[in-house]
Amino acid sequence: MCGIFGYVGTDLDAAGLVLRALKQLEYRGYDSWGVAVAHDRRVVLQKQTGKIGEATAALPPSTVGLGHTRWATHGGVTQPNAHPHVDCAGRLALVHNGIVANYRELRDPLTRSGHRFRSDTDTEVITHVLEACLAQAPDGPEQLLKATIAAFRQLKGLNAIAVLDVRTGQIAAAKSGSPLIVGWGEGATMLASDYSALLDHTRRVTFLDDGQAVLVTRGSGRLFDVETGCELAPEIAEIPWDRAATELAGYPDYMTKEIHEQPATLRRIAATSRHHARQLAALIGQARDVFVIGCGTAGHAALAGQYLLARIAGHRVTFATASEFQYLQDFVTRGSLVVALSQSGETIDVIDAVRAARGRGASIAAVVNVEGSTLWRFADHAVPLMAGPERCVLSTKTFAAKLAILMLTAYELARQGDVGCACIINAADEIERLLAGDRRDLIRRIADEISTRDHLFVIGRGPSYPLALETALKVKEVSYVHAEGFAGGELKHGVIALIEPGTPCLVLAPRDETHDDILAGAMQVKARGDMLIGVSPEPHEAFDYHIAVADLGPATAIVNAVPGQVLGYYLALLRGHDPDKPRNLAKSVTVK
Ligand code: G6P
Repeated sequence: MCGIFGYVGTDLDAAGLVLRALKQLEYRGYDSWGVAVAHDRRVVLQKQTGKIGEATAALPPSTVGLGHTRWATHGGVTQPNAHPHVDCAGRLALVHNGIVANYRELRDPLTRSGHRFRSDTDTEVITHVLEACLAQAPDGPEQLLKATIAAFRQLKGLNAIAVLDVRTGQIAAAKSGSPLIVGWGEGATMLASDYSALLDHTRRVTFLDDGQAVLVTRGSGRLFDVETGCELAPEIAEIPWDRAATELAGYPDYMTKEIHEQPATLRRIAATSRHHARQLAALIGQARDVFVIGCGTAGHAALAGQYLLARIAGHRVTFATASEFQYLQDFVTRGSLVVALSQSGETIDVIDAVRAARGRGASIAAVVNVEGSTLWRFADHAVPLMAGPERCVLSTKTFAAKLAILMLTAYELARQGDVGCACIINAADEIERLLAGDRRDLIRRIADEISTRDHLFVIGRGPSYPLALETALKVKEVSYVHAEGFAGGELKHGVIALIEPGTPCLVLAPRDETHDDILAGAMQVKARGDMLIGVSPEPHEAFDYHIAVADLGPATAIVNAVPGQVLGYYLALLRGHDPDKPRNLAKSVTVK
């Protein structure tokens, strides 16, 4: 969703630096963008709707700049609604991530006292609140900081704000909820909502906690507590990835790159994650009850975890979609463990769920890709996915990584960690073969045949049920073909009414206890004219197409996600869509 980047340094091309940083944030999803620089004690702005694309900075030289990519919430996608927003006096340029819950109450008295509003956003209200606070704050090097803190205290909701003051050349920021990171560069201090915008300059960062503010000046950044106003000592961390890890490295797009990175990710987990899995297994083993939660693809991984832990370790854990978990929290008590899965570690529904669970006395374990993220820092125990940066909006390699971590954890719980590692390596080998050979071409041909169809149904039972949901999600989010995943047994309870001659149905039929029943269901749709795509170790007379996937026991689930990823990818290309940036979707969903 929205991205923030601010720069205070010595380079006179602050506008160019900000624009390049915003391009690094594009993958998060946005619909307009803007940059402000301080020039001759004036705010100079460049704002536009749409993608940055090949846009170049058309702003005067300056050593201070602040930019934003906006994913519209309050107010349509228009140029005036794009950030930064400028105050009446033209001294401040402000950007914002989040939602100001009380913006109406704040706006009315400001309008009455003569402030002029030029947009429909909740954000602009903050700019004018801050302008009013600035008038009250004593002159001096901390004037902007004090006004920012005073304004921030008036906001309700989860917000991150950053404001550039052209009079002092400073940037001040504060946050509650949405992420903000300070980057410590050579002779420059930066501020970003996402580490990837900082990697061109530095890997040394400080993650702001909720309720903290920062004053960024050339070569310095001072941290403060919003509530007390006291100065705090910043904790410096090192980002574990460099810029090279975020490059395309010869692949046509990030989706292809990340699908192909799955074997290496799995081998890395098998080689290095055993102690993490052992610790997580011990926590699960000791807990009175265990809940596994996540959103979107991470939610499907959590559901798969429920099956993997049951089958491999005979251990019962309860799955919940993170956004629904609040309605089950009555069962969360001291002694409960919540295992939260998230690529970004910033998904607001996950963060809210674990906050509430901790409030009820539960311990929190997190399985997260972005180290240092909000969830990572919040958890009592954090397990890294170690998948490297994932930039395509769709999760692929981090889905495989989550399944691998949960599978290894289940095997550790069953005291068979070696078996778990071997399974994960087998899955890596099979994915490599699948992506290299004829099977990928077959999936391309299937995409060709079904690219003009309106629907795709996907069925699976048991451990393949979450895979059916995930396959359908991959297809619909990237190709916009309507795709639905079902538990195989549910098909005849309604969905079968939608089957028409030629409707494609993908059947996940691994050689496990679900095999016969899922094929029986497949035969029923076949009898109604369905076109069947079987994902299975062996062919079947009912399959119109057969994508062969080796029988790898529980690890088959990891491999069985891949045909759906590749199918979704080819369907997107055939239908003319950018696989990395599907419309309306965001990589990191930081608002409710
Ligand atoms: C968004 C993304 C999905 C992702 C979900 C959860 O919806 O588009 O790809 O699965 O958020 O994200 P997380 O970062 O918590 O794994």
